[in-house]
Amino acid sequence: MERTVSENQDKLVDAADFLPLLGTDHIEIYVGNAKQSAYFYQAAFGFNVVAYAGLETGNKQQTSYVLQQEKLRLVVTSALTPDDPINRHLAKHGDGVKVLALWVDDAAKSWRETTQRGAVSVQEPMTLKDEFGEVVISAIQTYGETIHKFVERKNYSGAFMPGFKARSSTFDVKPIGLQYIDHCVGNVELGKMDDWIKFYEDVMGFGLLLTFDDKDISTEYTALMSKVVSNGNGYVKFPINEPAKGKKKSQIEEYIDFYHSAGVQHIAVATKDIIYTVGELRRRGVEFLEVPGSYYEDLIDRVGEIKEDVAVLKKLNILVDSDEEGYLLQIFTKPVQDRPTMFFEIIQREGAQSFGKGNFKALFEAIEREQENRGTL
Ligand code: FE2
Repeated sequence: MERTVSENQDKLVDAADFLPLLGTDHIEIYVGNAKQSAYFYQAAFGFNVVAYAGLETGNKQQTSYVLQQEKLRLVVTSALTPDDPINRHLAKHGDGVKVLALWVDDAAKSWRETTQRGAVSVQEPMTLKDEFGEVVISAIQTYGETIHKFVERKNYSGAFMPGFKARSSTFDVKPIGLQYIDHCVGNVELGKMDDWIKFYEDVMGFGLLLTFDDKDISTEYTALMSKVVSNGNGYVKFPINEPAKGKKKSQIEEYIDFYHSAGVQHIAVATKDIIYTVGELRRRGVEFLEVPGSYYEDLIDRVGEIKEDVAVLKKLNILVDSDEEGYLLQIFTKPVQDRPTMFFEIIQREGAQSFGKGNFKALFEAIEREQENRGTL
């Protein structure tokens, strides 16, 4: 019999953990205009600005806004000079995730353990100090031009890290109930998924949690394959997708065509009240993928009893899936920049620890309709 996701996760806890992770520290997104992106994440997504770096703090190269909601921290960064490497990154990829930063107890050891196992170093361990203490950071390369930064902040009490100054939003931001990162998905090139799964297993000590093949994830026209890896305590989960052969162009190929490399496809954020969260996001102008009304006709037959009112879910276009452990509610935004690349998922877990396999077909058909509109199917 197939094991549940929790049973798979329990097996990972027992493995010797050479890279203990306390969670996701932050996600840094390179953007064309950090000031305006920060406004978008405040006004639409309900993040508060908590820290800032830029000309006013003595940084003549880059501007960063640190945005926080519960345990969720985003950093949006732009360059101030034409020759800054961020501008080369932006010219190639457009706005996108550069850093998936992991919160650790020992950034030097994390760097040593991973580089000894073959990780490519991006930043040797470095101690940053100011009047609030010290932060140790180090970094390694992952898929595409994305990096993992290890952040050790146990001896730090400032707003974010040295180089940043505390700052607040300049208007009354209304949070929408976003809590923490549930998982963060990477799209990689055809044939590369297993290499990157092996990287997470061998170099970072993650374990395989789930596998989806092209039979699980296909529509009449397109297909993809996906594997999910998790660290030992389950705080950090990375699904990795690659395109599979179909009659038309897979959404993963479309992503890679526009991002011009592998990269982060979506950030899934947990909420305790998806109806409130999605209602607020819609009121604030965030757009979502739409599934047809027929999706809701036999919903209860498919997923069993749920607490939520199906009519409300239908109105907001929220999807439901269930597994042996319970159910989950989820929805995908449309891409949050002009290129059809990065988007957000909002997820509420009611026991289920899986990823909404029962919704893949409806979601991918919705993406195909978007691709059709973009002329990229
Ligand atoms: Fe997801």
